[in-house]
Amino acid sequence: MNEFTIPYVRTQECEVSFFEEIFPMFEAMREEFVRRGGMVVVDEHVHELYREKIERTFAGLPICAVQAGEKSKSKETLFEIVEKMAAAGLERRSVLVGLGGGVVCDLAGLAASLYMRGVEYILAPTTLLAQADAGIGGKTAVNFYGTKNLIGSFYAPSKVIVGEEFLSTLKKRELRCGLGEIIKCGVLYPPFFETLYESRAKLFDIEFLKGLVPHVAEFKAEIVKNDPFDRRGAREKLNLGHTTAHAIEEELGLSHGESVLCGLWIESRIARQNFRCDELFLDRLETLCEAALEGKKWEEAKGSSLFSVVRDKKNSDGKVCMIVPVAAGKTERLTLSLARYQEAVLKALEE
Ligand SMILES: NC(=O)c1ccc[n+]([C@@H]2O[C@H](COP(=O)([O-])OP(=O)(O)OC[C@H]3O[C@@H](n4cnc5c(N)ncnc54)[C@H](O)[C@@H]3O)[C@@H](O)[C@H]2O)c1
Repeated sequence: MNEFTIPYVRTQECEVSFFEEIFPMFEAMREEFVRRGGMVVVDEHVHELYREKIERTFAGLPICAVQAGEKSKSKETLFEIVEKMAAAGLERRSVLVGLGGGVVCDLAGLAASLYMRGVEYILAPTTLLAQADAGIGGKTAVNFYGTKNLIGSFYAPSKVIVGEEFLSTLKKRELRCGLGEIIKCGVLYPPFFETLYESRAKLFDIEFLKGLVPHVAEFKAEIVKNDPFDRRGAREKLNLGHTTAHAIEEELGLSHGESVLCGLWIESRIARQNFRCDELFLDRLETLCEAALEGKKWEEAKGSSLFSVVRDKKNSDGKVCMIVPVAAGKTERLTLSLARYQEAVLKALEE
C-alpha cells in the first residue's frame, strides 16, 4: 500500500491593538474594505449608541445589526449573517468586521470561518468581557441543542482592535460580566490579583478598567499561544470557576459574569473542603467576588439542585469536573460524582 503525508499547517497571526477611539482606524481601512468586499456585523445596542460614527466610518459597506443578547448565538442568526454575506457578494478575499460584545465576536468569527471555507475577519470588541477575554483566542461558537457553544471553530481574527471609548457606555451589569473573567485571570496571575484586591473599591471605575484591559488581554493571549486549539491542557485553567458558573447561569438565569463570580466563590469553598489551600488568599478572593457582585448572589443557589451541571459538555461519565483555586497562581483539578458535588455545594453555601 502506498502512503503519503500532507503537511497541513494552520498558521494565523492576530494583531491586537488598543486605542482610545477606534473609528479613525477603521476609516483608514474603509477603501480597502470596499475594494475587497466587506460587511459589518454589529450588536443592535452598539449600533444605536454609535450609529453616526458607524454609518460614517463604514459608508458603502453593508451593515448587519444583530439582536443584543445570548439568544442571538443561534444557528438562525448565524445563517442570517451568512445569507447577508452571500447577498452582498462577499468573496474569499473579503473581510468581515465584528463590532460588539462576546456574542457578536463569537458569531462573526463563526460566520467568517464558514463562509467560502473561511474569510478574513477583524474584531472590535465593545464590552469589558469581550475586550479582556472573548475577543482573544480565536474561539467562535453558537449555542445548539440546548448546549452552550456546541457548534464552533477555532478561527482567529486577523486583527483585534480594542477601543476604550466603548467602556463608558456599558451598564454596571455588563461591567460586572467582565469583572468575573478579570478576577479569574487574577487568580491565575498573582500580580493582577494584588492590583485587583488593593483596588477593590474601584472595581467599577472606568479609568481603572481601561488600564487593566490590555494586561488581561495579553495574559489570556499568552495562555492561548501555548495551546491555540485547546488540546494541550494549558487553556483548561481558564475554566476556573466555570463548571459551577455554567450550572448557575442555567438554573438561576444570572448573567455569565455574575455566574462566574458566584462560581469562583463556591468553588473556592469547595477547594477548601478538598485541598490544603492558602486560606488568606481564598478569603481575599471571596471578598473580591463579593465586592464585584455587590452582594452575596450565590445565596440564590441554595434552593436549587444545580442538576443541569451534568449537561455541561466539559463533564464526562456523569462526573463533575472542576478547576478550583487553591493559592495565588495555583489551581487544582477536582472530579466529583454528581451527588458529592451537590453535597459540596450545599456545604459551601451553609458554611
Ligand atoms: N470566544 C471566547 O473565547 C469567549 C470567552 C468568553 C465569553 N465568550 C462569550 O461571550 C458572550 C458574552 O459576551 P458579553 O458579556 O460581551 O455579552 P453580549 O455580547 O451579549 O453584550 C452584553 C450586552 O452589552 C451590550 N453592549 C455591548 N457593547 C456595548 C457598549 N459599548 N455600550 C453599551 N452596551 C453595550 C450588548 O448590546 C448586550 O446587551 C457569551 O456568549 C460567552 O459565551 C466567548
